[in-house]
Amino acid sequence: MARVAGKVALVTGGASGIGAACAELFAAEGAAVLLTDLDEAMGRDVVARIGKAGGRAHFHRHDVCDEAGWPAVVAEAEKRFGRLDIAVANAGIGIMAPIETMTLADWRRQQAINLDGVFLTVRSAIPALRRAGGGSIVMMSSIAGLRAAPGLAGYSATKGGVRLFSKSVALEHAHDNIRCNSVHPGIIATPIWGKIPTGAEGNRRNAPIDPRERAAAVVPLVRVGEARDVAEVVLFLCTDAASYVTAQEFVVDGGMTASMRRAPVQT
Ligand SMILES: NC(=O)c1ccc[n+]([C@@H]2O[C@H](COP(=O)([O-])OP(=O)(O)OC[C@H]3O[C@@H](n4cnc5c(N)ncnc54)[C@H](O)[C@@H]3O)[C@@H](O)[C@H]2O)c1
Repeated sequence: MARVAGKVALVTGGASGIGAACAELFAAEGAAVLLTDLDEAMGRDVVARIGKAGGRAHFHRHDVCDEAGWPAVVAEAEKRFGRLDIAVANAGIGIMAPIETMTLADWRRQQAINLDGVFLTVRSAIPALRRAGGGSIVMMSSIAGLRAAPGLAGYSATKGGVRLFSKSVALEHAHDNIRCNSVHPGIIATPIWGKIPTGAEGNRRNAPIDPRERAAAVVPLVRVGEARDVAEVVLFLCTDAASYVTAQEFVVDGGMTASMRRAPVQT
């Protein structure tokens, strides 16, 4: 079954984790995929895997915060694949630190990638989606955009911002037949957990977090989420089956946010 046959999708942060899973699933379901990322080697690996499986994909190295580079990203999708129907604003980072000692540099870096990057993705994609007669935007938020947790204030601020930005985009562009929804993963086993900066600077977290250990302790389904679990929900939102779904938030967390148990991440 090709659930997005004939569509063209842009996935930011497509070289790793949830973005790579989205790119591979979209391609397997018939879409042509332009994936962007800072990590060229991993991005090209994802494209190679998609090609080997018989799908169509291309990698374009781009920093989501680079405003000047955005027109070339959208032009590449339209030139190479003829149109743009789907934009997945997925690229993001996590920095954990208590508010009192968080450096302004860390705060700003997180805002720049997680929030400015999503804004630039959407602003750049909308004219192309309109040219295609409409489309679907999915923004990657987090359960941290729905619930607070100590040590996550900076990250939560970006993901909470994404949640309401998504709804605003949906209302502003409903008349263009552009739908927009946010996805809120819980604890997903991706490389992001190993990249959370640790060490003394700004009193960041001291030790890396093991997502599988965390999930076993606090997730009602008693397992960590896989990137594919999130990608399946993103895919649904970009299919015609979701054509009346917009301005909504979709939680993919194994039941974690419904539980009364303690918030999972502490510094
Ligand atoms: N893994 C989880 O548990 C989890 C939970 C909730 C939300 N999320 C969100 O999911 C999204 C994807 O995260 P992931 O877990 O797959 O992490 P990941 O680190 O595996 O992948 C993120 C990708 O984004 C890329 N990236 C980072 N900064 C970039 C930039 N400036 N420009 C372009 N690309 C950039 C990275 O190179 C990487 O390939 C993020 O927005 C993250 O906040 C993840």
